Amino acid sequence: MSYQVIARKYRPQIFDEVAGQRLIIDTLKNAVLNKRVAHGYIFSGGRGVGKTTTARILAKSLNCIKGPTVSPCGECPSCLEIAQGNSVDVFEIDAASNRGIDEIRELRENVRYLPARDPYKVFIIDEAHMLTTEAFNALLKTLEEPPPRSLFVLCTTEAHKLPTTIQSRCQHFSFRLLDYSEIRERLEWVLNKEQIEADEGALSAVAEAAEGSLRDALSLLDQAIASSGKRLEESHVRQLLGVVPSQVLVELVEAIDAGNTRQVLETVDRLSTEGYELNHFCGEFTRYIRNLAVAKSCGSKSPLLQLAESERAHLARLTERFSEEDLARFFQILIRAEGEMRYALNPRFQLELALLKMAHVRKLTPIEKLLGGLRGSQPAEDPKAGAKSPERFASPSVSSEKRTQPPPQPVRSAPARPANDHARSGPIASTAAEVNERATAPVPISQETLDPRLDKIKTLAFGQSKLLSSCLDPVTGWRFENGEVRFLFSKNSSWAVDFLSAREQQEKLRSVCAEALGQPVKICVTLEDQEGAGPRVRSSARERAESDQGVEAIIKKFQCTLVDVIDLSRE
Ligand SMILES: Nc1ncnc2c1ncn2[C@@H]1O[C@H](COP(=O)(O)OP(=O)(O)OP(=O)(O)O)[C@@H](O)[C@H]1O
Ligand SMILES: [Mg+2]
Ligand SMILES: [Zn+2]
Repeated sequence: MSYQVIARKYRPQIFDEVAGQRLIIDTLKNAVLNKRVAHGYIFSGGRGVGKTTTARILAKSLNCIKGPTVSPCGECPSCLEIAQGNSVDVFEIDAASNRGIDEIRELRENVRYLPARDPYKVFIIDEAHMLTTEAFNALLKTLEEPPPRSLFVLCTTEAHKLPTTIQSRCQHFSFRLLDYSEIRERLEWVLNKEQIEADEGALSAVAEAAEGSLRDALSLLDQAIASSGKRLEESHVRQLLGVVPSQVLVELVEAIDAGNTRQVLETVDRLSTEGYELNHFCGEFTRYIRNLAVAKSCGSKSPLLQLAESERAHLARLTERFSEEDLARFFQILIRAEGEMRYALNPRFQLELALLKMAHVRKLTPIEKLLGGLRGSQPAEDPKAGAKSPERFASPSVSSEKRTQPPPQPVRSAPARPANDHARSGPIASTAAEVNERATAPVPISQETLDPRLDKIKTLAFGQSKLLSSCLDPVTGWRFENGEVRFLFSKNSSWAVDFLSAREQQEKLRSVCAEALGQPVKICVTLEDQEGAGPRVRSSARERAESDQGVEAIIKKFQCTLVDVIDLSRE
């Protein structure tokens, strides 16, 4: 007799043999017993979880010579034919193969006649979501006025793609992915029947790799038996399935915990040279981290864990090293990486990046916390500023000032570089903005060489627009400090300040000044009395920043220095 694959050989033949899906099975059994079977059912759920199997059992229950019964005999012609898929009254239609147009047309013809032999005509439509609109319409008509003694079971992995008109005429059962323990139990049962021995670890490797699909589990088992014979060993099975040894996962977690990036990268390299599929590995590692997160939240005995008993103690020990937040973050990083790796030209980089992030992420946590704390201790601020935390802590002047309404004559404008982010810090990794800024750091220009440049600015401004240059005529003083050009105007020239406050004019003035000074600059136009005692103004903003507790806390925490202070309250 030819070899029959395990999944087919052990396909459940009665309701009670179906693993998991208890609620669905009980409901269907009741319907059969009480003769309240509906005309249309939708069986939805992942691949290989028992949809088609259950549909066939339902057909048998109705058509068995002893039926309707919840335990069909399995021996009568109906039972035998249904199991073999060649019953005269049970039709299996694969909507995926030719999208079902002909079949549904045929079905509409067919359905008008009573069953040839059995009590019911049963139509099992697999991959029902693939039917064409025409086919759906034809089906809908049939479901609207179902012929007596007919039953439709639509099996699909994507129920949401079924038209609502169809959905509303059927009873819908969602089959769920099987638990790790349900799969394991079933594997053990099959191995027992086949008289094959297996290591704990070999079994869990198969059960884990199946990811909730019993068909996958059984197919993997088939492969393992084919290559190992009567005894399945963990190392062999893992190798066969391309699953890394669990020790690798443990060591990787330990390396991440220790922040040992070298080991992290070397692990990836080793997996790659040994021929492991990195996308697949990422999935495995995600599952492992997920288990850690579950164990942390629900304890290492939780049924939510997809893991062998023997590995749980180890897992419990590992969870002690991490907080729930750490694990949630790891989980998030990996899930994102998994998605990105699918489309990446070089998935290895994505994986490396993800693992490096994991190794570093805990160092960054205190910064977030610190910022959170600082934020909490401060008066109401611009919520937009709060959302961009790295910028906020780098901009001490924001927190040193109560933000007041912008005066009608703004004194700041168009910064040539990010206006904030002025605090320098050692231990924090440079942000792109920081690096960028360093490259364009202001070059000091002495006062002697400065004055002649005002003429140049005026000349260039004249070239831009006459009005712009005439606005510069009443300038009573100007300074260039920390990359900022500050023009002072007497009180009776507020018209010029007003004019230069317009965004467009500021931009023109900024580019003119940048050209004259040979570097990117920021622009500030100010009326004299706003400046108070002239040059002291900047130092006073600085003084306020320096005496601010929040700023002080940041400087202390990050061991950084205050480079520049910008008075945003004047913006
Ligand atoms: N819940 C289950 N209990 C027992 N065996 C199952 C179960 N689910 C799947 N199997 C096994 O997997 C095989 C395939 O199952 P089935 O054809 O019912 O899957 P399906 O849900 O229809 O999947 P697909 O969406 O791929 O068609 C069966 O032959 C059986 O051996
Ligand atoms: Mg199926
Ligand atoms: Zn029977």
